[in-house]
Amino acid sequence: MRQGFDFDGATVLITGATRGIGRAAAEQMLARGATVLTVARSEAALAEVKALDPGRVHVLAADLARPDMAQAVARWVAAEHPDCAGLINNAAIMTHTRFTTPADRGLPGEDPRQAEIAREVAVNLTAPLTLTAHMLPLLLRKPRPMVANVTSGLAIAPLPDAVTYCATKAGLASATRGLRSLARIEGRDMQLSEVVMALVDTGLSAPAPRKMAPDTAARQMLDGLAAGRRRVFIGPTGVLSAIDRVWPAMADRIIAGKARGRDGGAYRPGVSGA
Ligand SMILES: NC(=O)c1ccc[n+]([C@@H]2O[C@H](COP(=O)([O-])OP(=O)(O)OC[C@H]3O[C@@H](n4cnc5c(N)ncnc54)[C@H](OP(=O)(O)O)[C@@H]3O)[C@@H](O)[C@H]2O)c1
Repeated sequence: MRQGFDFDGATVLITGATRGIGRAAAEQMLARGATVLTVARSEAALAEVKALDPGRVHVLAADLARPDMAQAVARWVAAEHPDCAGLINNAAIMTHTRFTTPADRGLPGEDPRQAEIAREVAVNLTAPLTLTAHMLPLLLRKPRPMVANVTSGLAIAPLPDAVTYCATKAGLASATRGLRSLARIEGRDMQLSEVVMALVDTGLSAPAPRKMAPDTAARQMLDGLAAGRRRVFIGPTGVLSAIDRVWPAMADRIIAGKARGRDGGAYRPGVSGA
């Protein structure tokens, strides 16, 4: 049986644990005996998470859209929490937009479309990759460390109203596989997992009739990581993946159909989770 990540007594950095799935995961990691490090932008929300258990929750205000921030976070961990043995790249934003319609007006002199795409790529893909690269030297000092990347069912079959978001999640899925291959060829004993997240009731996801509770999603994520799974399928994402393997056009239609069913063909532009 594959050895999984042992949360009991471990120190884990999870980005974006101030609300939604990350917050539920932070509470559950504490219950499993872990020390939790987290970063997010809102200092008030970080103080609330810290108050859960001031001795075992450590927070840093950081905007992961900034190019220097991932390295700053890794330096904070190395200096203050060198015991850290796990990284869960969870923070993300989602922009609902159609490439077939003009983007909202941006700042003077700015291409609003480029700015929108750059920000989403920065938070969802550049930051996790940079943070992973800067954290690996520290993590690799621990026996069997873990890096887990939270992707989405939309990395398998994309949502037409959020193609940048879906591309960042597919990129993160590919990076997880690439890093796992790197660890294998270098003979490193470490866990590299992709968490394929389902539709969960948080501020990030669009309104929908049936969404999974964040607690349930977090429990499935941590159970999967504790079991050492390479791909942790949350809710129905495993079925979506199986459909995509045999009939990709059908997987695309299922997801595009959900978008249509959600709002009768109209869509709500905007950024969620930001
Ligand atoms: N909810 C879903 O249906 C769903 C479906 C598939 C995949 N996922 C994935 O699951 C993960 C968690 O999503 P969620 O629904 O729990 O999101 P959420 O409720 O919107 O929470 C996002 C977290 O990320 C932080 N964050 C956002 N932008 C940030 C930035 N620039 N710098 C630092 N922190 C930032 C937020 O804190 P601040 O705003 O204070 O910075 C917050 O703590 C994401 O990777 C998401 O893509 C979610």
